Amino acid sequence: MTGNEIRARFLRFFEERGHTAVPSSSLIPHNDPTLLFTNAGMNQFKDCFLGAEKRPYVRATSSQKCVRAGGKHNDLENVGRTARHHTFFEMLGNFSFGDYFKREAIAYAWEFLTKDMGLDTDRLYVSVYTDDDEAADIWHEQEGVPRERIFRFEEDNFWSMGDTGPCGPCSEIFYDNGPEVGCDSPDCTVGCDCDRYMEVWNNVFMQFDRQPDGELVPLPKPAVDTGMGLERLATVMQKVQSNYDTDLIRDIITHIEKLSGKTYGDNEHNDVSMRVMADHSRATAYLIADGVLPSNEGRGYVLRRIMRRAMRHAKMLGFEDPVLHKTAVFVLEFMASAYPAESARKDFVAKVVENEEERFIQTLGNGLRILEDEVAKLKKAEQTLLPGDVVFRLYDTFGFPVDLTADIVEGDGFSLDEEGFGACMEEQRRKARQHWKGSGEEAVSAVYRKLLEEGLRSEFTGYTSLSGEAPVVALLRGGERASIAGEGEDVEIITSATPFYGESGGQSGDRGEIRTDGAAVAVRDTLRPLPGIVVHRGKVLSGTLHAGQNARLTVDGEARQATALNHTATHVLQAVLVEVLGDHVKQAGSLVSPERLRFDFTHFSALSPEELATVEREVNRRIRENRSVETEEMDAEAAISAGATALFGEKYGERVRVVRLGEFSMELCGGTHAEAAGDIGLFKIIQETGIAAGVRRIEAITGARAMEFVQRQEQDMDRLAALVKSDRGQIGSRLQKILERQKELEREVETLQARLNVGRSQQLVEQAREVEGVKLLAAKIDGSDAKGLRELADQLRDGLGSGVVVLGCESDGKASLLVAVTKDLAGRLHAGRIIKPLAEQVGGRGGGRPDLAQAGGSRPDQLAMALEGADGVVAEALKQAS
Ligand code: ALA
Repeated sequence: MTGNEIRARFLRFFEERGHTAVPSSSLIPHNDPTLLFTNAGMNQFKDCFLGAEKRPYVRATSSQKCVRAGGKHNDLENVGRTARHHTFFEMLGNFSFGDYFKREAIAYAWEFLTKDMGLDTDRLYVSVYTDDDEAADIWHEQEGVPRERIFRFEEDNFWSMGDTGPCGPCSEIFYDNGPEVGCDSPDCTVGCDCDRYMEVWNNVFMQFDRQPDGELVPLPKPAVDTGMGLERLATVMQKVQSNYDTDLIRDIITHIEKLSGKTYGDNEHNDVSMRVMADHSRATAYLIADGVLPSNEGRGYVLRRIMRRAMRHAKMLGFEDPVLHKTAVFVLEFMASAYPAESARKDFVAKVVENEEERFIQTLGNGLRILEDEVAKLKKAEQTLLPGDVVFRLYDTFGFPVDLTADIVEGDGFSLDEEGFGACMEEQRRKARQHWKGSGEEAVSAVYRKLLEEGLRSEFTGYTSLSGEAPVVALLRGGERASIAGEGEDVEIITSATPFYGESGGQSGDRGEIRTDGAAVAVRDTLRPLPGIVVHRGKVLSGTLHAGQNARLTVDGEARQATALNHTATHVLQAVLVEVLGDHVKQAGSLVSPERLRFDFTHFSALSPEELATVEREVNRRIRENRSVETEEMDAEAAISAGATALFGEKYGERVRVVRLGEFSMELCGGTHAEAAGDIGLFKIIQETGIAAGVRRIEAITGARAMEFVQRQEQDMDRLAALVKSDRGQIGSRLQKILERQKELEREVETLQARLNVGRSQQLVEQAREVEGVKLLAAKIDGSDAKGLRELADQLRDGLGSGVVVLGCESDGKASLLVAVTKDLAGRLHAGRIIKPLAEQVGGRGGGRPDLAQAGGSRPDQLAMALEGADGVVAEALKQAS
């Protein structure tokens, strides 16, 4: 039975038993900062267990993409070396939200494994939580599992999603792979770390919501969460020893064999590399398809570590050119029937991976050479600890993640000086902190959660109106509940309904005014910290505000309209970017305020001036088509299959709002929009920049602001025209003429300067003194520089006929010195030696040829003294020569 068949049969089994098959959620957990990556099937249902979210079904089943890498469960280094470790795997699961409980969950699991999969009951064992007699009895009495095959564990049989959140006792099912694969220890039994008794299925009886202080608060209704590793079940069904030998992964290895010309099973080193490439290709493909991009922090960095480890193993397999993008695309095609939406992004994935490969392959070779040298050095010195600064240099300069370095040297029996590395990192962090500006991800304050738990909700009425009345249901001052607020105080106001749009989806919050009988509040911003709660932030302008009072709310209509224009323009822009640049363009972020719009998107190079002009022209053409903006509430799945643009990795509810603009734009969006595209008036791009590898940013303005911008530019042009005494149309040719004239004048100045120098040099020559029968001319030349001194020295040498020239000047706050000696004296005097003591006097050093030497120094104030001392230096030199 193939892996694809097992997956399909599992889902069908539960669908036939009243479960709704729900597609895998993104690997980026939605709205859950406690989690790095989606790591279990239940993640997307977290709020259903907690009772905070209602769905139209109470039974669900899914095949969930999971990544366990980075963070607490870091198995990265083990992947490839063992039969079971993965960064990416698929979890099959069935879920009950307050519907069935232990009895049914156990019955379903047993029926599926023993009937549908036909597993031999003699090979199956189960475990329950220490004191869960109920589950143990169900296993024994209902399913006939002998008591001696029911084990009890404490820690291993209590499952929680994280430090907080849903949790409960669980019951696992184990498959006995047989004594051949065991550790042979006489104590080996269920629970042993070896590969013999393999856990295949975990049934969690969700009963509690763990609080930050550890308290276990009962869930509204007991629930069921289960998880079965697809790769493990496939191992059992396909009667192989390793997950990597199941068709789910073996087919990828076969593809790598073809590309590399090497055979799997021939050589253990190559086998490890092939397994690493196969596993990491899966993680790479799906992380990128879900919107993670390789970067230097957070999720992006974990992805980068995975990719770089894969690239190094590709190199060990003999690949010199980028290959990971090919294996990642193979994965997406190979698994297309299970994850079609992700497969549709394969061109995008290929580009991101190849880009990263090209960036890294160059430095990989260099870094490896450095590492080899270091290892050789250490071996000679009979040491086994790789110094922290080497690890840091590889990390910082060559982009070697620490676990990659560890992975490379481990084979030679080396370990890393982690403390030393940590010290280098800390030093760098200290420097970085000076530039730190905050991550922008504010934690949702507990006070808002509390309001939500109390049942407070604010209904948003602002799609259709800009004013309304509603009671103040909560008043906050300094982040705490208050019953009144007086003039001048900063407050947060929550009303049961509001026309104010709370910041979300990149659209900034509304401004405006709230009035009660007796008080007026200026609202400067509106937030939506949690779905259902809208918070008005502002200052009491006059009077006293009381909680419970009736309030009249008025949105600043002008700001709202300006925001709406920018928001609608953003939709037009996105559609046009896809048309002009290609469908690898995906939104990576956006910001829409009354002042401007900012749109971040995936693309691999800067837009050329022509592309920018085309984008701007096309957006404006669409605007002039003046299609009306239509919004509609729809079923999320229907909207997405109708082609609506959704954000990567965004979780949407069952019902979504769809914003449509003619035939060319359809997006899931909760924001406020113009009535028709024509309202935007004018769209003007202000700037295009790169903000990360493969992500570009366009900033633009619309409407009145765009008009003002154009007018300002015209005024600037007029000012320029007036300055060059011309008019707008002629500025170019006029400036051209001015520049030509300037060149002419510069040439004239040069000629005059040369003539002046001749005159000056004649005067200077007359000032020459005699030292021991040799003519010496020492002078400070104001307004000259090193080059000027050289030119002047040539003339002076000619003028003197025979002698020594010593010149000095100050330029840019530094001293310059020059010594020149005429040819006839070359045997007796050396310019380089004469200049040495003089240069030291002006705080510098110098030297040069026998006939010419120059020097610079930091103390121009000493120039006059140095020049005066030239007599003595020359006299001394002559004495030594004779
Ligand atoms: N959520 C449970 C697990 O991951 C089923 O094991």
